[in-house]
Amino acid sequence: MQTDTKNQSMLDEVLDGLRQSQKSLPSKFFYDEKGSKIFNEITQLKEYYPTRTERRILDRNITDIGRHLGDKVALFEPGSGSSEKTMVLLTRLPEIKYYIPIDISGDYIFKVAEKLKRQFEGIEVVPVQADYTRPFELPEVNDDVRNIVFFPGSTIGNFNLQTVHRFLNVVANIAGSNGGFLIGVDLKKEIPLLEAAYNDAKGVTAAFNKNILHHINRKTGANFDVDKFRHKATWNEKKGRIEMHLIADKDHTVQLNGEAVHFSMGESIHTENSHKYTLDEFEEMVSPWFEVKQVWLDENRWFSVQYLEPVG
Ligand code: AVI
Repeated sequence: MQTDTKNQSMLDEVLDGLRQSQKSLPSKFFYDEKGSKIFNEITQLKEYYPTRTERRILDRNITDIGRHLGDKVALFEPGSGSSEKTMVLLTRLPEIKYYIPIDISGDYIFKVAEKLKRQFEGIEVVPVQADYTRPFELPEVNDDVRNIVFFPGSTIGNFNLQTVHRFLNVVANIAGSNGGFLIGVDLKKEIPLLEAAYNDAKGVTAAFNKNILHHINRKTGANFDVDKFRHKATWNEKKGRIEMHLIADKDHTVQLNGEAVHFSMGESIHTENSHKYTLDEFEEMVSPWFEVKQVWLDENRWFSVQYLEPVG
């Protein structure tokens, strides 16, 4: 199989993870077209509380949120995808003058932006194709708007600490000294609730987890036999996170571009972390960059939407 530069870098990252004693794969490889569709299905599952809980918090507090954001806003959204979670802000906050969706997938984001331009005539939509965990060039917007970064879904929980720090630097840069940061943060709660959210009865999360292997097979010519792996998601108390793994059901070997990777029965590939926080832990983590100004919660205190401003 011919590997182009993009697939070669995927292969390098995949092999890097599989050569470690605890085998791992970067969770960004979940999201090919099929993976994004399955993730969308996850967000509608009864066990997966984060999406609907966050939506309800945003919906119920939208007026108060608008007051915190200011009266002329440029809304930046890293990893915007379909911009679906942003609809409540775009439709109900006339303060938003610019919307800047930022996503690595250029084709998709430009298509979404065209649709939004037609839907929201009073908002200037300026899509940016970029990897938002690294610094990138900002588009020019009018001087008298406040830059607000919106990062919903508790996606920050999927980052390791190094990436969190890099990301907070990028956000602080976008916000500048008088901007703000509106973020969705999933909270610690009873373990059965957390584990159920990542082990749904219909097996949608299992299909999402296994799709990473299909994606890697398709892009790199690897020959993972997906049926030889099963999904596992458990709470790691010490690390404060749900971990997803794929467990090999049999001893076997997988070929990746001429390199043989051996799996013993029971051995796992670590595919994702989803960190959960207490309000204090989150506040402490962001404190070198941001001060938490306001926290909105649901009635169960399962999820939070937080408004932060740069320190200093
Ligand atoms: C995208 N991210 C916030 C999801 C989460 O809950 O960590 C990804 C996910 N993985 C399994 N289910 C959902």
